[in-house]
Amino acid sequence: MGARTLKDRGAGSLRREDVGARVRLAGWVARRRDHGGIVFVDLRDHTGVVQIVLDPDAEGLSAEVVHGLRAEYCIAVAGGVRARPEGTENPDLATGAVEVAVDELEVLSPADPLPFQLDDRVEVDEVRRLQYRYLDLRRPRMAENLVARARAIRTMRRVMDELGFLEIETPTLIASTPEGARDFLVPSRLQPGHFYALPQSPQLFKQLLMIGGVERYYQVARCWRDEDLRADRQFEFTQLDFEGAFWDQEDVLEVLEELAVAVTEELRGVTPRRPFPRLSFHEALERYGTDKPDLRFGMEITDLSDVFAGTGFRAFAEVLAAGGTVRGINAGALGLARSGLDGLVERARALGAKGLVWIVVEDHGELRSPVAKFLDDDERAGLVARLGAEPGDTLLLMADERLLVLEVLGRLRLDLGRPEGHDELAYLFVVDYPVFEPGDDGQLVPAHHPFTAPVDVETMRRNPAEALAKAYDLVLNGTELGSGSVRIHDPAVQAEVLEILGFAPEEAERRFGWFLEALRYGTPPHAGFAVGIDRFVSILRNEPNIREIIPFPKTQSGQDPLTGSPSRVSDAQLAELGIALRPEVLARWAEEAEGSSGE
Ligand code: AMO
Ligand code: AMP
Repeated sequence: MGARTLKDRGAGSLRREDVGARVRLAGWVARRRDHGGIVFVDLRDHTGVVQIVLDPDAEGLSAEVVHGLRAEYCIAVAGGVRARPEGTENPDLATGAVEVAVDELEVLSPADPLPFQLDDRVEVDEVRRLQYRYLDLRRPRMAENLVARARAIRTMRRVMDELGFLEIETPTLIASTPEGARDFLVPSRLQPGHFYALPQSPQLFKQLLMIGGVERYYQVARCWRDEDLRADRQFEFTQLDFEGAFWDQEDVLEVLEELAVAVTEELRGVTPRRPFPRLSFHEALERYGTDKPDLRFGMEITDLSDVFAGTGFRAFAEVLAAGGTVRGINAGALGLARSGLDGLVERARALGAKGLVWIVVEDHGELRSPVAKFLDDDERAGLVARLGAEPGDTLLLMADERLLVLEVLGRLRLDLGRPEGHDELAYLFVVDYPVFEPGDDGQLVPAHHPFTAPVDVETMRRNPAEALAKAYDLVLNGTELGSGSVRIHDPAVQAEVLEILGFAPEEAERRFGWFLEALRYGTPPHAGFAVGIDRFVSILRNEPNIREIIPFPKTQSGQDPLTGSPSRVSDAQLAELGIALRPEVLARWAEEAEGSSGE
């Protein structure tokens, strides 16, 4: 039998055609029916599940061993494949037509009683799942996610290879690069008091590679960002990062489309329609209230300011007089009772709105609304026409400053219209982003990152806040899958952008002098992109959280319950790094120790 003595077939691979064959299988006891006589076991390995039948009285089997099998024992068996008796086939199982009559059984490793049942239908607490991730990964759903992730990455590598990209690694102990999030720092032992940062992305290194004459670079790159964790955010995540020299926006979008189509075909077996639709940042915001619109449904935001230009409804009139706007969505036939409609108003208020007007269109076209009495005939007609309102529809109107109205209506639109799951796929490129956006303290911050080229330098000089960038995003079903831009390759323009961002020339020189200098040695124009692989695969797998796609993720609070990270380190380790903990940290530890000893 050579090297494959334990196993010559995958459990999930057996079919009716295999009836009569003798097979050796190895895997785990997924389920067991033992009523004292014949024992039925679902044997699971990485290919799937097959039913095996163990007769404790059969020659070659030990009754004690057969009845001693427990969930998740790791076993090897041999036996003949036979058709299941009529009426006992399982059409839900790929191997459901057959079973294996076992005549050899070896327990390779017993298993302790499990902390939770490994059944996709059983809800298990997230922390517990992560604490026993190695068991969680045995569940079919997780096993399939791992396969899907690997297939997605393999497909990306194939496409990039075919297109002539070179896979190049960049360092992960680097000087901090500004990508907008907080860095993870790594103390240096050899230079105490000095720190590396873990890269938020390979951004500057891929640009250095362009300067270094690599015309097409890619990398499956691990990135680190110390930011609040969410369903689509982890501290560590993986990008498909790429960059091309002598490139403009169209070159990038073409590669991206090819990639997205290939990965979708691989994981979903469908081919998305090309070219992907495009919206400008401005249009996306105006029509959907976000720069990552979910285009699987309509419910667009409509400007109604002119309809209400002379309105007698105080709330709207005041907003319009103050330079604000009135906009609305037709949320369709919601069929909500009064309490549901009031709930929408509360939700809008929670999102920062002063209020929300709901209007239900009645059977004969009359409008039912708490504010109906304030609306004159022209306003009613204008409203109905503009929003394409039909009997049964619910219209939602809001008046305020433009960006707030767009944001709140955009969120309500998602609440009310977004489909469950991701069966349908709506890809979209968002283009024509601004170079800058207003930061918290009035200082402009990069809308993408500081290395993004403005469309026109003159305009940027005159009016930075309005300047457009050669920057673009790929959006799928309302999630930002990735971002990229054409980069600045002129050191003078790069210096200007840093200055607009508030870096005094000396500080720019101190932090980025090495990069500004690199730009001075014949830098080719270049452009690139990074796709968030975790997000991409989670959507294609219809998973609600990227944790399901990451083999060993962190909890929402940034911890790994399996290995106990982050953890304290010894004084000796800290001393070697020249680090002393601050008194308030030590005080908190002392408090915690007291709290736990007092319990
Ligand atoms: P950006 O910062 O937009 O661009 O990141 C690109 C993509 O990476 C994914 N991503 C994340 N995924 C999971 N958890 C996170 N915390 C997280 N943060 C980002 C998203 C995002 O769209 N260097 C530039 C790209 C470029 O200009 O070429 C960059 O990193 O899917
Ligand atoms: P008020 O005059 O504040 O009692 O509001 C009367 C109605 O108008 C309520 O249904 C409010 O929700 C709504 N409303 C008030 N201000 C706004 C606004 N800026 N936009 C939309 N609706 C509003």
